[in-house]
Amino acid sequence: MLVCEYKPGLEGIPAAQSAISYVDGLQGLLEYRGIRIEELAEKSTFLETSYLLIWGKLPTKEELHDFEQEIYSHRRIKYRIRDMMKSFPESGHPMDALQASAAALGLFYSRRDLHNPVYIRDAVVRLLATIPTMVAAFQLMRKGNDPIRPNDNLDYSANFLYMLNEKEPDPLASKIMDVCLILHAEHTMNASTFSARVTASTLTDPYAVVASAVGTLGGPLHGGANEEVIQMLEEIGSVENVRPYIDTCLERKSKIMGFGHRVYKVKDPRATILQDLSEQLFAKFGSDKYYDIALEMERVVEEKLAHKGIYPNVDFYSGLLYRKLGIPTDIFTPIFAIARVAGWLAHWKEQLAENRIFRPTQVYNGQHEVKYSPIEERE
Ligand code: CMC
Repeated sequence: MLVCEYKPGLEGIPAAQSAISYVDGLQGLLEYRGIRIEELAEKSTFLETSYLLIWGKLPTKEELHDFEQEIYSHRRIKYRIRDMMKSFPESGHPMDALQASAAALGLFYSRRDLHNPVYIRDAVVRLLATIPTMVAAFQLMRKGNDPIRPNDNLDYSANFLYMLNEKEPDPLASKIMDVCLILHAEHTMNASTFSARVTASTLTDPYAVVASAVGTLGGPLHGGANEEVIQMLEEIGSVENVRPYIDTCLERKSKIMGFGHRVYKVKDPRATILQDLSEQLFAKFGSDKYYDIALEMERVVEEKLAHKGIYPNVDFYSGLLYRKLGIPTDIFTPIFAIARVAGWLAHWKEQLAENRIFRPTQVYNGQHEVKYSPIEERE
C-alpha cells in the first residue's frame, strides 16, 4: 500500500479536480470560471456571478432575468421556520442560528432526487433566496421585533439591507454590499468548501451540505476573522497604538487578525477591491478613525512580516465596510455565508457530477495490545 507523507492541514494536497475558481497566490490572481475577480466586481452582480459559478457560464439576458425572478419570488421563509427561529436564544451567535435554520429547511424538501435538474435548480434557488431572509429575521427577532417581509421592488442586496436595517438602503450602500457578495462567493478549496464537498459526497441533501459548510465557516481562522478584526481595531483604539500592539502580538507569537493566508503570499486581490470600496463609502458617508488605524496596521505589518508573505486578506477591510453600513459585528460572518452559498452550491453540483465518497486515511500514532484494566485498579 502507498504510504503518503502526513501533511497537517492537508497543505498542498489536492482534494478534488475543479473548474470553478482559480487562485495564483504569488501573483494575487483570483478567477471565477476563468474571469478575473476585478472584472466581475466592476461589471457583474451577485446573482449573475452565482449563475456563472453554479452553471459554469454567464447567463443570457433571458436566463438571468428568469433566475432573478425565481429567486425574488422565493425570498419569504416558511412560518414554521420563523417560529422555530423565534425560540432560539437571543444571545446565540447568528452563525449558529443560520446553521440550524439552513438544516431545518431540509426538513421541508428532504426528497433527494439529486440527478434531477429540476430538484437541483429548486434547491439552488431556495437556498440563495432564503439564506439572507433567515439572517435578517434572526437579527430582528433577537431585538424583539417581527421579521419584515422581503420587498419585491428591491434587488438581492438592497432587499437584504432593507430586511436587516428596516429601511430602504442608499444605492451606493446596496451596490457595495453586492460587490462584497461577489468577492466572497467562492475561493477554491478552503475549509468550508471542503466540508461542503465531503458532505455532498455522501449524497445527502443540499441543505445538509450548506448547513455543514456554515458550521465550518464560523471559526475565527476562517470566516469568523472579520469580526475579530473589528474587535482588534477597537482594542487598538488609535493610530499611535498600532505599532506597540503589533510588537506585542509578534512577541507573544499570536496571529494578527485579517492578515496572512494559506495561499496568497501577496496582498489578497479582494482586500484591494474592498479597500477601494471603503474609500468610496467613507467619501460619501464620512470618514472613520478605524480606517486610519487599519491603514497604519497594513503599513507596519508589511514592514515586519512581508518577508513571510503576510499581507491583508479579504477579512481585513470587509468588517470596516460592514460597520459603516450599520451592520452589527456578529452579522459579518453570516454575510460571508450568504455569499459563499453560491460557491458551496457550485461545488455540490460539481461533486455530484463525478462523485466518489471522501474516505481519507490517517497515520495511527496510538498504542497497540493494551490490556483492559478493571475499574477499581485504574488511577
Ligand atoms: N499574524 C502574524 N503572523 C502570522 C499570521 C498573522 N496573521 N499569519 C501567519 N503568520 C506567520 C506564522 O506565525 C508563521 O510564522 P513562522 O513560520 O515563523 O512560525 C507563518 O506566518 C506561517 O503561518 P501558518 O499559521 O503556518 O499559516 P497557515 O497557512 O497555516 O495559516 C491563516 C493561514 C489564515 C490561518 C493564518 O494566516 C491566520 O491565522 N491569520 C489570521 C486569521 C485570519 O485573518 N483568517 C482569515 C483567513 S482569509 C479568509 C478565510 O479563509 O476565511
